[in-house]
Amino acid sequence: MASPWWQRAVVYQIYPRSFADASGDGVGDLAGVIARLDHLRGAPGALGVDAIWLSPFYPSPMADFGYDVADYTDVDPLFGTLADVDRLVAECHARGLRVIVDWVPNHSSDRHPWFVASRSSRSDPKRDWYVWRDGRPGGRPPNDWRSSFDRVGAAWTLDEATGQWYLHKFTAEQPDLNWANPEVEAAMLDTLRFWLDRGVDGFRIDVAHEVGSVPEPPAGTPGTEPWLRDQDWPGSHRVMGRVREVLEEYDGDRMAVGEVYVFDQRRLTGYLAGDELHLAHNFVFMNTPWSARAFRQTVEEFDAVAPPGAWPSWCLENHDHARVASRYDGGGRGPARARAAALLVLLLRGTAFLFQGQELGLPDAEVPPERVVDVDGRDPERAPIPWEPPSAAGPGAGFTAGEPWLPIVADAERLAASVQRDDPRSALALYRRLLELRAATPALHEGRQTMLGGGDDLLAWVREARGERWLVAVNFADGPLRPRLGGAGAPAGELVLSTDPGRAEGRVALAGLELARDEGVVVRLDRA
Ligand code: NOJ
Repeated sequence: MASPWWQRAVVYQIYPRSFADASGDGVGDLAGVIARLDHLRGAPGALGVDAIWLSPFYPSPMADFGYDVADYTDVDPLFGTLADVDRLVAECHARGLRVIVDWVPNHSSDRHPWFVASRSSRSDPKRDWYVWRDGRPGGRPPNDWRSSFDRVGAAWTLDEATGQWYLHKFTAEQPDLNWANPEVEAAMLDTLRFWLDRGVDGFRIDVAHEVGSVPEPPAGTPGTEPWLRDQDWPGSHRVMGRVREVLEEYDGDRMAVGEVYVFDQRRLTGYLAGDELHLAHNFVFMNTPWSARAFRQTVEEFDAVAPPGAWPSWCLENHDHARVASRYDGGGRGPARARAAALLVLLLRGTAFLFQGQELGLPDAEVPPERVVDVDGRDPERAPIPWEPPSAAGPGAGFTAGEPWLPIVADAERLAASVQRDDPRSALALYRRLLELRAATPALHEGRQTMLGGGDDLLAWVREARGERWLVAVNFADGPLRPRLGGAGAPAGELVLSTDPGRAEGRVALAGLELARDEGVVVRLDRA
């Protein structure tokens, strides 16, 4: 039986504010996404991704740029209308692209009518839809929980009018929903059905591991358990199980991927036991330093601790983290390492997630202090996509005809998508080839995986399926490397792809292979 689509897939994250602006107001929108679908799939020269994940486009006061949702079943006028979503889903499906939408169940906006009612009085029927508690003596909040955003401070805000505090693990404009209340659960699960009925293929679940945490420990738990803090509660698992049940009311392989931001892969994979999430973003991997040994440990540990059937997924960028080309820069090596990192995300066994602009090798943008808008320092990775060089398209670089809401990357002239499209040495060309190779090669999208040894300098692994064996090797050393590849089980093969544009492809003997600094290669091994 063929593996499910979401195991083979490469999923491309679209952050709608920064992808493409059709209206000219400086902020991206759904019509802009539709206009740029040729970049993604179904047109000559397209990247060839299998699915898009859209970050939130719901009505929102934008305190957290859409992760503060004021209506779970509508579209913010900034982004368009429900009709635009329908058109987007139809256009994607016509190209064979699946559509995943973001679902933000831990908290709503403080402007959501549910919260407006909830804070209106202690006796309001919606009071218990959020997490309200009395303060401690001396005007102190109910407990010492802190917001995930340092600048926010305490995770509690006092509502003067009703004299109680409400919980918010992010900004004060994002009150936590009370998932212990069955009415909240029913209303929120219905919002999933709303989008499933409109044809979406699944959900990315915001802070899945935080859903349902309340200040009191779950009954019968010892005081030392980590869930006495604010994360990874039994309740989070219960809610993910309910989500899975809703998905299974529908046909056609609908999928849920959780943002499970825990640094313990045992806890992470606990969500993948079969009746909760299909996939979980792996932030151990995303936060791994540029070290072959560290990446190998993360990958091996996942396999060692995951329950049977759990499927890995890999990502190195999203809208909350510095881009790879900047994060792993190491004194000017960012662009080469970003190319090598593409092999990790796309060729390790698992579903691959890319963030818009990663395929262009974009670095973080410089954001001068007067243009900072995010509470948590995440503007640089959210800079708009440069579609055309500014010399041809003006200062909006084809992203917008107006003033972009965040600065465009400094090197847009060289990094613009249209410039990279026809350059076989570009990051975009590399990604396109890698996606093509992955899609066409069962060993690379569903094959078994064996990690080879290699210390700090070499990350290498073999993928195999249907009698084919492929080797992937990445040089992490500070100079050229002659890797020992005896474990590959074949003396030679066909070097099909290198991240170094200067490398000649063709027959190669593994014993004589020398990798350049920061180079990664893909070799189809000879049959033994
Ligand atoms: C995770 C999202 O990715 C991030 O952007 C957001 O600020 C928090 N969750 C809160 O919703």
